[in-house]
Amino acid sequence: MTGPGISRFGPEEEAEVLSVLRERELSRYRFDDHDGVAPLSKVARFEQEFRTLTGARHCLGMNSCTSALFAGLLAAGVGPGDEVIVPGYTFIAPIAAVVHTGAEPVLAEIDESLLLDPADVAAKITARTKAVIAVHMLGAPCDLDALGAVTREHGLLLVEDCAQAGGGTYHGRHLGTFGRFGAFSLNVFKTFTAGDGGVLLTGDDDLYETAFALHDHGAAPLRMGVTDGPPLFGLNLRMHELTGAVALAQVRKLPDILRTLRANRDKLADAIGDLPGVTRRPLHDPDGDCATVLAYTFASAATAGEVATRLGTITLNQSGKHHYANMSQLRPDLTDLTVPRASETPRPERAVLHRSYPPGSLPRTDDLLSRSILLSVGVVDSYLGSGVGIDVNADDDAIEAAARLFKTTVEDATKAAL
Ligand SMILES: Cc1ncc(COP(=O)(O)O)c(C=O)c1O
Repeated sequence: MTGPGISRFGPEEEAEVLSVLRERELSRYRFDDHDGVAPLSKVARFEQEFRTLTGARHCLGMNSCTSALFAGLLAAGVGPGDEVIVPGYTFIAPIAAVVHTGAEPVLAEIDESLLLDPADVAAKITARTKAVIAVHMLGAPCDLDALGAVTREHGLLLVEDCAQAGGGTYHGRHLGTFGRFGAFSLNVFKTFTAGDGGVLLTGDDDLYETAFALHDHGAAPLRMGVTDGPPLFGLNLRMHELTGAVALAQVRKLPDILRTLRANRDKLADAIGDLPGVTRRPLHDPDGDCATVLAYTFASAATAGEVATRLGTITLNQSGKHHYANMSQLRPDLTDLTVPRASETPRPERAVLHRSYPPGSLPRTDDLLSRSILLSVGVVDSYLGSGVGIDVNADDDAIEAAARLFKTTVEDATKAAL
């Protein structure tokens, strides 16, 4: 199993997909079936239901979260000359989206919550800063009170990357509704999935219209795709109708998936209990956490490394394109001897990156990640670092067994490290 959403696939997803195939309407516009205004396609119904679930004013389905971030940033006016602050622990996608707008990503530290540190955001603001991307990593909400305060004070856009936190909340309000826009992913590791896919939420009418036009060749929202919106060069980032069909079935299951994840997280954490020298990641709102993983931070990197090796997992500083220090794209100072074709290919980051981020650039992020490991509760993803633990369908015996394994491994590894 990969993510919680896919573990819950059943007749509902099959029925929605089959109805698309039987009706032969594979576009969100259902071109053969209306007289001007598109009737409700699966994509449109998914948008409607996700909007209702989250309380957002606008919801736009796309082909990925990366597309939603890119279109949202462009629609918000981010472009060449601007700086956008992103955390050094993220997935590379929001950094890539910034780079492709022509703006420069500026990396900031995380804190013990493994999320963007509002104090370091404040320290990284310059006259060129335009936006801050709060990445709700590992299913948990960022400190949105503090990030809201700092962005308001400096007149910056707050953007939410909710890819890993679909359905999550912060003090009772849905993630993705705090920033100028929020972007979600429907890839296979997420709380709800359609294989691939993305969503943009916004409360801003202009941003919605512009993002819609950008995602569909300059079209106006919800018309046939032939009615012009703002005069701009759009791309095609549309959500496919088959994706919409699966996403529709999944959004209806999301509340139940989250209930199960949260109950299993609590059982697993209780069964593990307190361990000397180990701290469970503090959360800014435990009730709003999607509970896809449990994160533990050890007193020393040596012990964390020993535990990770014995469990057959990794410490988070080894988590591929999630830790900035593993992203060679952030090293414009390096030549690409290992990637010969890259020297012939235009590299957008070369044009926009004025800073380079070798390992050590964010010492607190490096330190925390090197001392932290994950147990899966529902996202089983060895690249992320959550290859061990339980999945969303785990019963009490499986939860007990995972807790026992973790506890004895920590005890043995701690003794060995002494
Ligand atoms: C934090 C984060 N942002 C963005 C993305 C990109 O999502 P997508 O694969 O839908 O483009 C991911 C994907 O894993 C992610 O984890």
